[in-house]
Amino acid sequence: MTTALVHKPLVRVLAGVQEPIPPVWLMRQAGRYLPEYRRIRAEADSFLDLCFNPERAAEVTLQPIRRFGFDAAILFSDILVVPHVLGQRVTFDDGEGPRLEPIGDPSAFRMLARELDHGRLEPVYEAISLVKRELPATVALLGFCGAPWTLATYMIAGGGKRDQIPARLFAYRFPEAFAELIDLLVRASAAYLIQQFAAGVDAVQIFDTWAGVLPSAEFHKWCVEPCARIVAAVRERVPEARIIGFPRGAGTGLEFYLETVAIDAIGLDWTVDPVFARDRIQPRRPIQGNLDPLALLIGGAALDCAIDGVLAAFSKGPFIFNLGHGVLPDTPIAHIERLVARVRGAAARG
Ligand code: CP3
Repeated sequence: MTTALVHKPLVRVLAGVQEPIPPVWLMRQAGRYLPEYRRIRAEADSFLDLCFNPERAAEVTLQPIRRFGFDAAILFSDILVVPHVLGQRVTFDDGEGPRLEPIGDPSAFRMLARELDHGRLEPVYEAISLVKRELPATVALLGFCGAPWTLATYMIAGGGKRDQIPARLFAYRFPEAFAELIDLLVRASAAYLIQQFAAGVDAVQIFDTWAGVLPSAEFHKWCVEPCARIVAAVRERVPEARIIGFPRGAGTGLEFYLETVAIDAIGLDWTVDPVFARDRIQPRRPIQGNLDPLALLIGGAALDCAIDGVLAAFSKGPFIFNLGHGVLPDTPIAHIERLVARVRGAAARG
């Protein structure tokens, strides 16, 4: 672990070190904008088949590393493998996003398994070992899971819905049942992350994509507290675990999140004000983010200007360059090459 620490810039930043050139990787760096991804995707029967095929999942994880030389690979999988393995029907129709059999009332989720069957997740852990064998020594491997609130929004609505209203209604109507569901997801997610560490990931990220749709009290109860419990449970078993939190849309709630969730770094979405983040967030934890994915899609002067803005805001402290959310499918490859060159070139110039 200690030698690995020395070689990987991203892991050093997670330990609070300010790197002269910030490590860079992008959320959704593997995916449809890459022709080599689309080729492998077409060979698989379904998206889940790709996620549960260790050789293919490993290959797709490595593709963006070969092409762009990022400082981190993120395991190719999806947050919705957890509900799938808990027994909910999950499908991904082409171009439509995920579809789950919605959990309409408390009786429906009582059908779910009470704990994760790691046997069924073995292909994911195997993909981690395969990637580890191929990855350059300086590149970190990231695992991940969805935060309980975000998972619950998809599980209840059956997919992505405007402001994830079905889950919010469910939480108001059936608070005890909802708390039970969140509890189940806390335990399952902690167990899942612990196994990912055992398989060899260097760090993990907890994606709370829908943290920004809740009123403050519910944000504390359904996003912050459950994430804090996951982090504590993982650390109990893996004391040196490195964990990044990404509560998208949390806004000023970021400060409470940081006080309560013992993460090593915080991912910021593209709406977070750079001065607020530099002055109030970065002194407490390394920052990861927060380029607007649309600036990356557009390219040109807008992209250069946005990259320079992010670097200017965060380069004076521990910092990992990333987007404020995932790469969009229509993003040109040349724009990503330009991003990596500019981040490394600009930082080298000082
Ligand atoms: O490169 C990587 O980031 C690693 C793989 C990864 C995927 N999904 C692959 C994927 C990761 C880390 C995720 C996380 C994920 N999945 C989140 C949290 C982060 C975020 O983006 O908000 C969420 C909410 C999901 C659920 C999900 N999966 C949605 C809403 C969709 C449809 C939207 C879309 O972009 O298509 C997916 C499908 C999905 N997950 C694809 C990929 C590459 C596209 C499916 C395909 O190739 O057919």
